[in-house]
Amino acid sequence: MDKLIYLDNGATTFPKPEEVYKFMDYYYRSFGVNPGRSGYDLCMESGEIIENTRKQLTKFFNGKDFNRLCFSYNSTDALNLVINGMLQEGDHAITTLLEHNSVLRPLYHKSEYDGVEVDYIPVDGDGFVDPEDFPKKFKKNTKLVIVNHASNVIGTVQPIKEIGKYCKEHGIPFVIDASQSAGKVPIDIEDQFVDIVVFTGHKSLLGPTGIGGLYVKDGIDIKFTRAGGTGVRSAVKTHLDEYPYRLEYGTLNSVGVAGLHAGVKWLEEKGIENIHNHEMKLTTMLRDGLEDTEGVILYCMDDLSDHIGIFLFNVEGLEAQDVGTFLDVDYNIACRTGLHCAPLIHEQLGTSTIHGAVRFGIGPFNTEEDIETTINAVKEIAKMKKEGKISGNLPH
Ligand code: ALA
Repeated sequence: MDKLIYLDNGATTFPKPEEVYKFMDYYYRSFGVNPGRSGYDLCMESGEIIENTRKQLTKFFNGKDFNRLCFSYNSTDALNLVINGMLQEGDHAITTLLEHNSVLRPLYHKSEYDGVEVDYIPVDGDGFVDPEDFPKKFKKNTKLVIVNHASNVIGTVQPIKEIGKYCKEHGIPFVIDASQSAGKVPIDIEDQFVDIVVFTGHKSLLGPTGIGGLYVKDGIDIKFTRAGGTGVRSAVKTHLDEYPYRLEYGTLNSVGVAGLHAGVKWLEEKGIENIHNHEMKLTTMLRDGLEDTEGVILYCMDDLSDHIGIFLFNVEGLEAQDVGTFLDVDYNIACRTGLHCAPLIHEQLGTSTIHGAVRFGIGPFNTEEDIETTINAVKEIAKMKKEGKISGNLPH
């Protein structure tokens, strides 16, 4: 079988840069003790890489105080801390139809069980929210606005600066879910009026799974909703108020932090813009190669100027998961099909009733050859469907 063409980088980037594997191995063998728990040399050295990564990521997002960069396991974990720590009964929150279940489900729990009211901003036909829609929904009790920066389903990058400006004018904390965007498009929390940025390590920041986090701007506070070991001031009966301990609980995934450190270093050396340009060149190639193909439906791919390398499509009359199986079995192409943990945007696209769509996620290691093979594969599948050589359950 030909080599695997990995186009599931929206789920997690794979492979990672060689430097990430090497640094994780080196770190864990050399300093894999519990950082920050004791004063012996190895423990201090282990803690140093954690602190350096806090500094590195704080700078990456243009934050000011590296202690306000807190690690979590992933974006879902960090978003749960934010949502549960900032909303209580009687509050109102605003989010969008683009959100992942990492936002939708905790907010649903808040509205269903804790008396929080939630409004959802729709997107236009190209997949963008209108910033003007946000102030129209602001109320006296609006306590949080959460926006998906770059969609894991359609790849559109939202105008966060414009939304952030409205939030700032009204004194409403503004949170971005940067799961897909961090490492692909620049994030400057000062310039873009962002109060909290939530990230995961294993996607475009090129680290491993199991590490993520959030940066919380000075002046914004998240109540702690969990409690546990912090490694310092053990005699205090409650969890600690000060950052980063306030939002960290128990032993950190230190080898994950090390991998994330190496991933971000690699990104910065290569240049985020160069990587993004490479991915968008390939995404444009895919779009141009498939847009006029009979039987292939593309979603939100007309204007790629505010976009990341996420590509959503269907083959008319075929279930997305069947297309995914053909791609996997016959062409050795890996992708993700279905609703991508973001059911509301599929509802808006009209794809939820046909069980979703097929998603390609382009990564830094994809090549033009990968894309040429993929275009031909999708064309062949659409042609076979048209000629009745394969059947599907969906109407034409
Ligand atoms: N959220 C990840 C995705 O979109 C897992 O596939």
